[in-house]
Amino acid sequence: MAKKKGSGVIVVKVALWYITILSIFAAYTNWLPQIRGDAPEAAEAIDVSAITPEGLQEMGGMIIFGTDDPLGTLARGEGPIGKGQCPLCHRFFMEQKADRCPNLIALKTEPQLLLQVSEEERSHERVKEPRYEEFKKLHADGEKNSGHVPHAETGGQYLIESEYCPNCFVVEGFGLKGTNDTESPMPIINKPPILLVDTEIVAVVSFLQMRDDPTKWTAKDDWEAYFGKDLASEGGDEAPAEVKPAGPPVALGSETPEEIVTKMTCYACHKIPGISVAKTGAIGPLLIEGTNAPNRIKSPEYKAAMKAGTAHATTAREYIIESIMDPGAFIVPGFADDMMKDFKHKFTVSGLDVLVDHLIAQDEAAALADGLDRLANEKEGPIKKPEAKVETGEAFAKNQSKTNEMTIQVSNKKLIENSTFIGLN
Ligand code: HEC
Ligand code: HEC
Repeated sequence: MAKKKGSGVIVVKVALWYITILSIFAAYTNWLPQIRGDAPEAAEAIDVSAITPEGLQEMGGMIIFGTDDPLGTLARGEGPIGKGQCPLCHRFFMEQKADRCPNLIALKTEPQLLLQVSEEERSHERVKEPRYEEFKKLHADGEKNSGHVPHAETGGQYLIESEYCPNCFVVEGFGLKGTNDTESPMPIINKPPILLVDTEIVAVVSFLQMRDDPTKWTAKDDWEAYFGKDLASEGGDEAPAEVKPAGPPVALGSETPEEIVTKMTCYACHKIPGISVAKTGAIGPLLIEGTNAPNRIKSPEYKAAMKAGTAHATTAREYIIESIMDPGAFIVPGFADDMMKDFKHKFTVSGLDVLVDHLIAQDEAAALADGLDRLANEKEGPIKKPEAKVETGEAFAKNQSKTNEMTIQVSNKKLIENSTFIGLN
């Protein structure tokens, strides 16, 4: 909140603003789709009151896309994926492929228009939906992963809440399979590995609101109303994690599997036993390649891909390498060709070895030990027997042989009704 003090203070504030903004922009401009799993280094507080809405909007765009020219990056067939990782799942442009999640499009007047309603407009509708009241009741004692109780009163507060507590309202048809749309696949944005700080989240929401119409900016007031305090109070917000102005992220042999998975964002789409950040990914298969890879290469679908000349692996190790370096070679049944195609430029040979060694060592037992299970759309079906609390569980247990038919259904609704996958328990 702007405080009226002497003009000397204002000069200092303006100077500080300049330095802060310049250093933030320097950091984000150099930002390439790289994230850091470790805690941000303590840095000086940002005086949010001194950042203009336009400054926040620009910062939000950098956090989302990692570039100020996302369309240029798309035209080169790359990312554009910044530190916030949002475009991994959300579609912002017509040219962008990812469409697994609600479109976050807010350019009603532009040719890129995907929806007749912008994210800003839709946010106001969400809080009025009867389902929002249901989520309030469901999480009256605090949602288990974030601790928040859904209580957004305005569209802007809803957007803020979506970042801190994706489970506080799950858009119908987009929840984790088998959770009846009560659990979101979206990561909590202010927690590792994405770990945006409060100011960065306000910047992202500013971007979403102002992309629609600059006069719709309310993000900072929304944050303050939602949390009942000043954005810069209590010793100030932490500054964004310092971003190393390095070259493109490359997985190195000196890194651990956990570091490589974090750096390469595999966790956003895959669950992987033994990797602490990779517990919720629900876009690609559970990566238990000690079990999966040998079965894949024996499968009729893989043989067909070999015949067609796209797939070439004859050993489990080759299969895993092929899946990462050339994901389009073979599409795992039940999934879409959704994995990005540029990992071949992002691994050193030894870095790839480290990751493949880890993946090939994972099997069904490792997944169960880590509390992970297959997704409902995996042809093999879940590993563990469903727990009683899943309504369709008993029928499933009685008739295992039907599982495959049931779980490869494509329609979301069908999947949800029939699913036997136990979400994140
Ligand atoms: C791993 C995939 C994934 C990532 C990464 C992700 N989201 Fe989401 N997001 C989803 C899914 C799925 C939903 C719909 C389910 C739900 O409501 O939580 C969603 C819902 C939302 C919603 C609510 C949409 C609506 O219409 O009600 C907003 C806002 C949102 N995400 C913003 C973001 C932003 C901003 C980022 C980046 C900082 C981000 N998301 C990153 C998957 C993701
Ligand atoms: C944007 C989502 C996404 C990201 C990020 C992603 N993947 Fe995938 N991955 C998929 C999807 C979807 C499939 C299944 C379709 C296919 O076969 O291409 C898949 C398939 C695979 C398979 C084959 C699995 C099997 O059991 O047959 C492997 C191995 C794999 N991914 C490894 C990785 C690794 C390693 C990373 C990180 C370097 C990664 N993926 C990042 C979406 C993703």
